[in-house]
Amino acid sequence: MNVLRSLKELDQFVFEKKQMGKQIGFVPTMGFLHAGHISLIHLSNQQSDITIASIYVNPSQFNDVNDFNKYPKNEEADLKLLKANFCDAVFIPEKAQIDSLQKVSIDLGGLDNIMEGICRPGHFQGVVEVVYRLFSVVMPDKAFFGEKDFQQLQIIKKMVETLNLPVEIIGAPILREPNGLAMSSRNSRLSKEARENTGFIYEVLKSFVKTEKHILEKRLFELGFKLEYLEKHDFGGQKRLFIAGVYDGVRLIDNIELN
Ligand code: PAF
Repeated sequence: MNVLRSLKELDQFVFEKKQMGKQIGFVPTMGFLHAGHISLIHLSNQQSDITIASIYVNPSQFNDVNDFNKYPKNEEADLKLLKANFCDAVFIPEKAQIDSLQKVSIDLGGLDNIMEGICRPGHFQGVVEVVYRLFSVVMPDKAFFGEKDFQQLQIIKKMVETLNLPVEIIGAPILREPNGLAMSSRNSRLSKEARENTGFIYEVLKSFVKTEKHILEKRLFELGFKLEYLEKHDFGGQKRLFIAGVYDGVRLIDNIELN
């Protein structure tokens, strides 16, 4: 696996592969990889000739500096996992290299005025900024994102459509821990006991259709979950239920399909 730490190395790698007519699949990440990320690597391997991952904890998408500082990191383990799963290259840039790239700011058509957009002001403009910059240098044919961040996935699709970028965006199903907790790098910040208890989040999502919302809100409160939102939204005919809140000091999000 090629570990590319500069734009020059990345440019060279991408240029060679494009010259050979290879289709590039891209999996952008913030590192501390888990099985959910690896499922994206597998999808990309199935659907592309070459898979490039990136590891970059993007400061501009954190509205809370503590959250940014506490974001878990383990580059050595990430590299092992990517290599073992046949990722062809990983781009690990420094902030200055990302900052040197052209950025965009686009109208997200209201997609950023709900849920995460309200709870994390500026978050989605930060995501758009970095994903656009990464796309401009990786030049992928396809890019893969997990449905745990379903709102983010819609926003990236919107960016690609608005800017007419030549990349296909592919969403992949959420992977869950045995108790139903959606996989996330942030789960590592939960205590062992809290992590074992968090199955109730998925249970609440699943019981939403047959239970009144205020009863679920009460249950979440009693379990010590500081609810930020529990809302239904329809994205182009896809009805989903979304939840976000803080448990054991860690902010967690999840969603399920309602159809
Ligand atoms: O989903 C993430 O991990 C991040 O938001 C992304 C897409 C890598 C951009 O920093």
